Amino acid sequence: MENFVWHNPTRIIFGKGVHKQAGEETAKYTKKVLLHYGGKSIKATGTYDAVVQSLQAAGVEYVELGGVQPNPRLSLVREGIDLCRKENIGFILAVGGGSVIDSSKAIAVGVPYEGDVWDFYKRGKSPEKMLPVGVVLTIPAAGSESSDGSVITDEEHQDKRSCCADFMYPQFALLNPELCYTLPKHQVAAGGADILAHILERYFSPNDHTDLSDRLCEGAMISLMQNLPKVLEDPKDYDAWAEVMWTGNVGHNGLLGRGRKEDWSSHGIEHEISAIYDIAHGAGLAIVFPAWMRYVGQKNPDKLCQFAVRVFGVEAEGKSKKEILEAGIRHLIAFYKSLGLATTLTEAGIGDDKFSIMAEKAVIDGPLGSMVPLEKADVEEILRLAL
Ligand code: NZQ
Ligand code: ZN
Repeated sequence: MENFVWHNPTRIIFGKGVHKQAGEETAKYTKKVLLHYGGKSIKATGTYDAVVQSLQAAGVEYVELGGVQPNPRLSLVREGIDLCRKENIGFILAVGGGSVIDSSKAIAVGVPYEGDVWDFYKRGKSPEKMLPVGVVLTIPAAGSESSDGSVITDEEHQDKRSCCADFMYPQFALLNPELCYTLPKHQVAAGGADILAHILERYFSPNDHTDLSDRLCEGAMISLMQNLPKVLEDPKDYDAWAEVMWTGNVGHNGLLGRGRKEDWSSHGIEHEISAIYDIAHGAGLAIVFPAWMRYVGQKNPDKLCQFAVRVFGVEAEGKSKKEILEAGIRHLIAFYKSLGLATTLTEAGIGDDKFSIMAEKAVIDGPLGSMVPLEKADVEEILRLAL
């Protein structure tokens, strides 16, 4: 196990009705907030009204900025920065999923910075400070409610990039599983695939002696795979949603990766897909992961075989590593399909014409991943396997 520091400062407030605490939690920081959200969902579900009432009851004034799109856009971030400066805003309340939270974090690092916020994403410049951010989570998926990162798309150049800093964690996140009841099935499936991927990116590590972390990951994956079908079957199954929402948080709050190198190459490759084709991030991961496993498994199969045996119960006796690996990949694909997700680029209507540019952009900051460091040619081969 490697040396590590683990400190996740986001206060998680979890359970029925907790989104109505948005006002009292926000009032601890400010009396004037930017209320940032996405499209129509929070108004249709009543979450918007509940949050606004709670802000008013706590005496918190709010300025609104809606319109965040999935794969959140740089142009709206810039608009949000101007609005916060003009209105002298000291806190951002994100009501939504990963896209709204990431857009909020980007505005928050952009407001106190004199240059262009894209410097933090495109040019690898580190932000030094940010406005505090709070979250009312409406979809368990990205884990941004207690992560230190933000992912933004420069829509003009179809460039999706991330920015991380150890102070970018939200101050608090209100997680009410009841808010998930209204999610469309495709978002449930894509969100589930993203949660699974966050655990896999940490599980697939080149380090040995990470037994506790491995077992935590395996437990989290098994619980997720048992509960996702339940919420698809009955969207008002509170207990199953509670499991999924908590797994989504634990899967990306940093705990499961401590003491080892993480991989993240599937995420790197997926971001190139959603940057150009604007598909849901989790849906892209369901396409990339099996192809990545097939490619990396030729060179470094042991951990992938462990996954097949311990998570899917593949019988290893009398089988070669290649056969165990293939059986694990088949189970993973079957799981994605059971959620209704495409598992190849072709099924998602994506061709091979941009593979070269995608692969080039994916490794622009150096090789991807730690299990097997991937260069441009490797990424292209993985994309080909995903066709
Ligand atoms: O826009 P509205 O109308 O609100 O609809 C949203 C959106 O269309 C809808 N939705 C959300 N909650 C709902 C709901 N519909 C009905 N009822 C509800 N309760 O769901 C759609 C998707 O929302 P989005 O926020 O895009 O989903 P998600 O949470 O999956 O976020 C994806 C983004 O997060 C990034 C991804 O790359 C992608 O841009 N990620 C961020 C990470 C981070 N900051 O740590 C890590 C992840 O790996 C990921 O890269
Ligand atoms: Zn993800």
